[in-house]
Amino acid sequence: MQAAQPRLPEPRLIVDHLSRSFGGRAVVDDVSLEVAAGQVTCLLGPSGCGKSTTLRMIAGVDRPDGGRILIDGAEVAGPGRHVPPEHRSVGLMFQDFALFPHLTVTENVAFGLKGDRAARMRRVDELLERVTLSGFGAKHPHQLSGGEQQRVALARALAPRPKVMLMDEPFSGLDNRLRDGIRDTTLDILKDEGTAVVLVTHEPDEAMRMADEIALMRGGRIVQSGAPYNVYNTPVDKAAAAFFSDINVIRGTSRGALTETPFGAFLTPGQEDGAAVDIVIRPQHLKIDFDRAGRGPNPTPQEGTPASGSVIRARYLGRESLVEFRMAFDGSTLTASVPGVFLPKPGTVLWLMIRRDRCFVFPAK
Ligand SMILES: Nc1ncnc2c1ncn2[C@@H]1O[C@H](COP(=O)(O)OP(=O)(O)OP(=O)(O)O)[C@@H](O)[C@H]1O
Ligand SMILES: [Mg+2]
Repeated sequence: MQAAQPRLPEPRLIVDHLSRSFGGRAVVDDVSLEVAAGQVTCLLGPSGCGKSTTLRMIAGVDRPDGGRILIDGAEVAGPGRHVPPEHRSVGLMFQDFALFPHLTVTENVAFGLKGDRAARMRRVDELLERVTLSGFGAKHPHQLSGGEQQRVALARALAPRPKVMLMDEPFSGLDNRLRDGIRDTTLDILKDEGTAVVLVTHEPDEAMRMADEIALMRGGRIVQSGAPYNVYNTPVDKAAAAFFSDINVIRGTSRGALTETPFGAFLTPGQEDGAAVDIVIRPQHLKIDFDRAGRGPNPTPQEGTPASGSVIRARYLGRESLVEFRMAFDGSTLTASVPGVFLPKPGTVLWLMIRRDRCFVFPAK
């Protein structure tokens, strides 16, 4: 007999086969998502891929051409149905989050709140404390720094306890160092409040840092979704790999389900004989073989065979150095990332190995 499955909680937000066209062009094309309470899903993708359009339909400021949106099981958008934004229990935070300039911090945060005054003020105080701005209530927005304004905007969006929080590049107006702190604070608060979050960003670092799940978009479609670890480490195609970091490509030809390269042979099952194959590797997984340098190839199962290249240029980036090589075997360029300072002179010949377990194999297009 089969044991009863524990019932999973219904997702807070369900986006079901959503689509939207402008002038006959599909800008959002069959997008589906589920976000549970307290979870953050990042819509990640290049400019113009349809992230904001998706978010605007969830918010209710734009209407889908097809598909449905449900919040806590209730349909808020679908064929013949459109619940206006103010009745969807969604909070919004955008890059140009414009606080009301003529209202104080307290009045800004209290803006969307209903109920008696004492209860509203309790909620305002609670939130200002949460964003560490207690004592700022009487100030006006122009008296606050960018980071402080951002935290007021967060408090304002959260005040009515929205079920779903929609954030469109909310941190991109802040300078780098401020941003990390505010991201973490924001995440803590959203988790505490049990809000389902959809965060739009075109920065992979931000998505990796914030997301429980990343939905990678391209041309209006979600091409891959999953936990940051999975999306980074098992990209669906070369472009998905390249979206997260620079990549190196070693071109080969599959024969008998094997592709021979100067770094050793790779299994390429499912590829026809003669099919061009791209072996893709991130710069941090290309290793300089200092131990056996110049003493010739010495294959290992994990690292394969070293191949030699001569340094084109080396740059120091602080945490790492990037060294570009012209490879002896075919004149192609490969870039290795080396921790710390390593700045070999152009023309220096070194041996490189690749972490075979970190390579991705794709059919060449
Ligand atoms: N109201 C509209 N009318 C016509 N075209 C639109 C409209 N809104 C968006 N588009 C087009 O749809 C495409 C997707 O736009 P969207 O704003 O969703 O992109 P995005 O992924 O948010 O990009 P970015 O990272 O630059 O903000 C773009 O090509 C845009 O020009
Ligand atoms: Mg956008």
